[in-house]
Formats: sequence, structure tokens, C-alpha cells
Amino acid sequence: MNKAIDPSLMQAAEATGAQLPPMDAHWMPFTANRQYKQAPRLLVRAEGMHYWDHTGRQVLDAASGLWCVNAGHGRQRIVRAIQAQAAELDYAPTFQMGHPKAFELAERIAAIAPAGMNRVFFANSGSEAVETALKMALAYHRVRGEGSRTRLIGRERGYHGVNFGGISVGGMVGNRKMFGPLLPGVDHLRHTHDPARNAFSVGQPAHGAELADDLERLVALHDASTIAAVIVEPVAGSTGVLVPPQGYLQRLREICDRHGILLIFDEVITGFGRTGQPFAAQTFGVTPDLMTLAKGISNGSVPMGAVVARQAIHDVFMTGPEHLIEFFHGYTYSAHPLACAAALATLDTYAEEQLLTRAGTLQTHFAQAVHALREEPNVIDVRNIGLVGGIELAPLPGEPSKRAFNVFLDCWQQGLLLRTTGDTVALSPPLIVETGQIDQIVAMLRAAIRRAA
Ligand SMILES: Cc1ncc(COP(=O)(O)O)c(C=O)c1O
Repeated sequence: MNKAIDPSLMQAAEATGAQLPPMDAHWMPFTANRQYKQAPRLLVRAEGMHYWDHTGRQVLDAASGLWCVNAGHGRQRIVRAIQAQAAELDYAPTFQMGHPKAFELAERIAAIAPAGMNRVFFANSGSEAVETALKMALAYHRVRGEGSRTRLIGRERGYHGVNFGGISVGGMVGNRKMFGPLLPGVDHLRHTHDPARNAFSVGQPAHGAELADDLERLVALHDASTIAAVIVEPVAGSTGVLVPPQGYLQRLREICDRHGILLIFDEVITGFGRTGQPFAAQTFGVTPDLMTLAKGISNGSVPMGAVVARQAIHDVFMTGPEHLIEFFHGYTYSAHPLACAAALATLDTYAEEQLLTRAGTLQTHFAQAVHALREEPNVIDVRNIGLVGGIELAPLPGEPSKRAFNVFLDCWQQGLLLRTTGDTVALSPPLIVETGQIDQIVAMLRAAIRRAA
């Protein structure tokens, strides 16, 4: 897996003088476009734990691309499945039609999901999965005759993608402030980040279960009869790796049950083995009503998202005349054949290599490695669970985010890809990572943190 620089790529880069493509037309997502285009970071090939850039440089991937390539890059079983599917059945509508792999994949996901969660609705991304789950929650209550339950509750610092529902329940100010009033009737729980009590917790922090009681406060304010659902990430990823305090998710579940409120876990990042079990719901022993998935579902190879519902929720929709559509929702590319083929091959790979529990096996080593960084300059917190680590740095005075971004750029120069959000460095290596590579990632990060002091 740990390959030297590919000589053919080096030659190719030298032969072309490592020329860059014209870059004006592509308005890049979530990117500092002007900074990027002055010093582009181009990825041209990937295999196993590594990317290669356009000059032939090998880059160790400590971010699973964007939290999605859980089985590592270029997995041949997945590649072959996509190729074969494209040749056999390129596209099939799934409105009033179907194709075999969509049904097979739904069964396979249900088989590894928490008990009772066995109905799967397909979308094409995490953002679409979130919109689907929110709409499902609203429609569920209405079909049951409780149409007054229209309010959605998110959480401060939550990230649920970029569509209007997702940014409305989300709680990251930069993603919300430009886009007007958003959805009406949304409220937010407080976030669980409490460095004064929990800094440098290994695994789940001890303090903060009582923050779930915020939901009781919102029930007292709005009345439960107006609230449809609560959506949280079991582990908040994009906001800087916030691990739920011990007992917090259990308490949230209890309060939801008490008031007939649906609990949605956004498992777009935590799904498919990131926390040591197939889903974080299993890691933390709390079963939601709806669960959103994407990213690792297809190992990042073909866009795909999904919502997994408790059967009881699905069954509520299955009333009324049988010739009528029960849920007016879906995407042209829901359960796209290429995505289904990729996801089935991904699940085979996860199963064969036991990757969905590998983070549990590696987490002690990973935790020790990342927590050793607490000795480094400006490290103000380290957080971890499974194969996710968050290393929070003190911001440069008056320039929030810049210190972590400098670390990101420095690591890229050294040959390491990681993610930063605010002043937190997030590590989420592919689940195939070896202990030696964990040590290598941390050593490179340590050197960059020292240089950023
Ligand atoms: C928890 C969570 N939900 C939703 C999304 C959105 O997924 P996508 O970018 O595929 O729309 C993300 C993306 O990082 C995420 O982390």
C-alpha cells in the first residue's frame, strides 16, 4: 500500500512540465478560489492510502478524501463493478420502475443497520439525504393526523449539508448568514462543545449529558405538538469533531420518546465504520428513527446518499389507495445503477476486510497518537473517537482559522492531506490505515504545528 512515487507519473509530469489546466472557469466549492488558483493543489491519481499530485508527488490521505473513501482509494472490486454496470445498464428510472441492484442494496444496508431500521430511500448526496429525512419526518406526522408537528430542531454548530433544509437546521454561521431567513419554524439546541470541562477528553467527554435537556426547554417554549423532529450528528464532524458527552444521546432519545418527536441521526460522516461500528448509532447504543447516509456508502466513488427509516415510520405511509404514490419525493438519480453497483462492491469490500469494525481495533493506538499532540505549542484541545481526531489550535490573534489553514498548507507541502475547519485540524484516515501510517500522519502534523507556532 505504501508505494514510492509512481515513476510513470513523474515522467508524465516532467514531460508536460507539470502544466496546469486553465483555471478561471471552475468556481470551486467551499474553496478560497483566489488563494487556490495562485498555488493549485491538483490531485491526479489515487491508490490505497495515497493521492498523487500533478507533479508526481505522493500524498498520504489523512482525510479519506472528504470523509468518504473509507476503504481506501482505487479499490479494484469497486472499479470493476462500476465499469461492468455502465456497460450493462447505464441508467434506469426508479419512479414507478426499478432495477435489481437498488433492491439488493437496500436489503444489504438494512442488514447492517440498527435493529428495526430496515427501509431505505436513496438520494445522491448527504445534503439530499438530509432534505429527504426532514421531509419524511414532516410527512410522517401529517399522514398520522398530527399535521401540527411542523417544527424542526437542529443544533448549534451542526452541519447537515448545504441545501435550504440542511442549512436551516444546521448551526454553522458561515453556511447560514448569506442566505436569508431560511426555513421558518426551526429552532436549535445548544452545542455540546465545553472545553472548560472537557478539553483533552479521550473518547466521549464526561460532562454535558444535561445539555440534551435543552430539548425540554424547546418543548416548553413551542409545545411538543408543534415539533416534528430533532436532527443531530452523533459526532459533529465538519464543525471540528465534537464527540457526544457520555449519556447525551441516550437522554436526547428519551426526551424525543416522551414527546413523540422523531430523532434523526445524520450519519453522513459517522456511517460505514468511522466510529468502530457500522453506524455511530451502534457505537453509542442509541437507535434513531431516521438515519442519513452518504459518503462511505459508495466509498466516495459514485455520488450516493440514503435515508434509513424504522419500519414503523415507513409503514405509516403505506396506507390509502394502493395505486397512489405514498411519498411525493425522489430524485432522477435516486438509486442510480452505477451508484448501486459501486455501493454493493463497497459493502463487499468492507465485509471481506472487516473494515466496519476496524476503527474500533485501531482506536487505542490512534487515540494515543493524537493525544500526544497536546504537548505541542498552541494545541488547546484534542478530541477523538474511532478513527476521527480533532486537534484544536489557538487562533492567531485577530485571524481566526488562519493558523490551522497554515498547518493544512504546510502538511500538503510535506505530502499529507488533512481537513481543517476553523482552527481545528480534523483527521479521518481511510479505515485501511496501518498503525505506522497513523504515526506518520501525526509526526507530519506535529512538525507543521511546531512551524505554525
Ligand atoms: C453530517 C453531514 N451531513 C451532510 C453532509 C452533506 O453531504 P454532501 O456534501 O454529500 O451533500 C455532510 C458533508 O460533509 C456531513 O458531514
